[in-house]
Amino acid sequence: MSTPTVEKHSAALDAAEAGGTELITVTLRIRRFNPEEHADPVWVDYQLEMDPKERVLDALNKVKWEQDGTLTYRRSCAHGICGSDAMRINGRNRLACKTLIKDVNPEKPITVEAIKGLAVLKDLIVDMDPFFQAYKDVMPFLITEGNQPTRERLQSAEERERFDDTTKCILCAACTSSCPVFWNDGQYFGPAAIVNAHRFIFDSRDDAAEQRLEILNDREGVWRCRTTFNCSEACPRGIEVTKAIQEVKRALVTRRF
Ligand code: SF4
Ligand code: F3S
Ligand code: FES
Repeated sequence: MSTPTVEKHSAALDAAEAGGTELITVTLRIRRFNPEEHADPVWVDYQLEMDPKERVLDALNKVKWEQDGTLTYRRSCAHGICGSDAMRINGRNRLACKTLIKDVNPEKPITVEAIKGLAVLKDLIVDMDPFFQAYKDVMPFLITEGNQPTRERLQSAEERERFDDTTKCILCAACTSSCPVFWNDGQYFGPAAIVNAHRFIFDSRDDAAEQRLEILNDREGVWRCRTTFNCSEACPRGIEVTKAIQEVKRALVTRRF
């Protein structure tokens, strides 16, 4: 007798679209893993009463606070700023705090699992060390030569525009963990590290572009990218990740940045 439930959901979703509040029953299907309890991850279903306008993060909080306090996941700002709650929701990398229940087909179980390509430590938490090591390796900070300036470093609007897009990165890893090259070879720097190298390579105030380009000329650097575009599709900040990677490749060939 699934039809009445679907009809009830549809009415509630219509109400949500119109700005109203009507609770629906949602099944959150979470891929749980506790290395101390089981050898392999297991899928566990949780039934919840949710307003369709609430977010997947609210649903996870509800599970943790009302049903099972052992559920483990990262979150902090709850507003798409800190980048800590990237996860696979219905098979797609998203931020749980930016994903509304009504937008992920709540008539069916909503699947939630850890991002791919990084070792799962517990439930939705992965080991981010390799991700942040690649980030550190591209030297994500301003490097200048010569004497300290006696006034601020000026930059034109056009010069700032050159790297504006890549300043938006919140290091959530949604891009890198959606990249098939990274899945197959965790040594690949990955799109997030390249995005953050781009942010400085094209900054007119920075003097270390050549060094960063040489780092990315490595066999695990930009040339591993197969222009799959998963990274651009996954980025919750709307950064044109693949375009940034292409620009870094071009800069490596032309040495113009
Ligand atoms: Fe996240 Fe986008 Fe930065 Fe990748 S580029 S880490 S997806 S914000
Ligand atoms: Fe991977 Fe993005 Fe390139 S998904 S292959 S880094 S375009
Ligand atoms: Fe900070 Fe989602 S909790 S980005």
